[in-house]
Amino acid sequence: MTDYDQLLSQALARARAAADEEGLRALDREFLQKGGVVANLLASIPGLPPEQRKQAGQRANQIKQALEAGIAARKGELEAAALEGERSGAGFDPTLPARPLERGGLHPITQVTRELEDLFTSMGWMVLDGPEVELDWYNFEALNIPKDHPARDMQDTFFCDREGKLVMRTHTSPVQVHAMERLKPPFRAIVPGKVFRNETTDASHEHTFHQMEGLCVGKDISVGHLIGAMRTLLRGIFGREIEVRLRPGYFPFVEPGFELDARCPFCKSGCSVCKQSTWIELLPCGMVHPNVLKAGGIDPEQWTGFAFGLGLSRLVMLRYGIDDVRLLLSGDQRFLEQF
Ligand code: DAH
Repeated sequence: MTDYDQLLSQALARARAAADEEGLRALDREFLQKGGVVANLLASIPGLPPEQRKQAGQRANQIKQALEAGIAARKGELEAAALEGERSGAGFDPTLPARPLERGGLHPITQVTRELEDLFTSMGWMVLDGPEVELDWYNFEALNIPKDHPARDMQDTFFCDREGKLVMRTHTSPVQVHAMERLKPPFRAIVPGKVFRNETTDASHEHTFHQMEGLCVGKDISVGHLIGAMRTLLRGIFGREIEVRLRPGYFPFVEPGFELDARCPFCKSGCSVCKQSTWIELLPCGMVHPNVLKAGGIDPEQWTGFAFGLGLSRLVMLRYGIDDVRLLLSGDQRFLEQF
């Protein structure tokens, strides 16, 4: 027993005298860690005669705890002393303002995406997600764009394999087909996401940008529903009623297909945004082509639908007056800090 007491008082004395944290760590290694004096002591207990074990075990544990406490106490003293030294030392100015907390913010694309998700979910739409690497089938074939169809040239594609079966999705439209395969009509869904085009980049072209697809399938869905939904969408985006017009537009996966223009929200009689025309081309859309419904396993005799493909990146640029699309994904802190 006395050996133990001596051991403990010596170790504690060394803890109290330790000049720095390294000294305390050495003490910890020497006594407490595996192979250390106290650890060995504890390990030897099972080998003692049974009638000694209980008492020896208790004592060894007491030593362990007392030494741990001694080390922790000295560590606290050393830390407090270091802080005190810093405070009283020359050059410490307690009136200096604290370092500002760095705060992150949401990317403008994320902000607008969340706003639109709120708007659409409040009207009973779902928010869906889809793969960014797609089978040719979903990106083209099922959307009524067969091989060798000239419409494939409208979208310069990044291929992921030699056979051209796997592509980086060029638009969010393939998720229409995934949705049809999984959901029973009637349903409504939006799909915000990244898309990729093999293009030479400039202020209005980027290899990676964002779109938001919309798809509504139901009984007797008509162009009237499409226009109503698009006007609600624009009201949500611009915060007031925006006049719209439809022009015919060609997209293989819709029939009829439209380009929906919005009356320029930034001027009355022409500005640089609307190129002096007072209209901005904003939303390609249309009635889902029967072949697409079929590809998604939905009977076009029973169900109809409308779809739209909002250019999210473009919308964000319009909203914040950003004149170069390449800024959006540049990761440039000076750009991002403005939002
Ligand atoms: N996917 C088309 C594109 O990226 C945009 C589009 C047009 C989507 C018409 C639609 C639509 O859903 O109906 O060029």
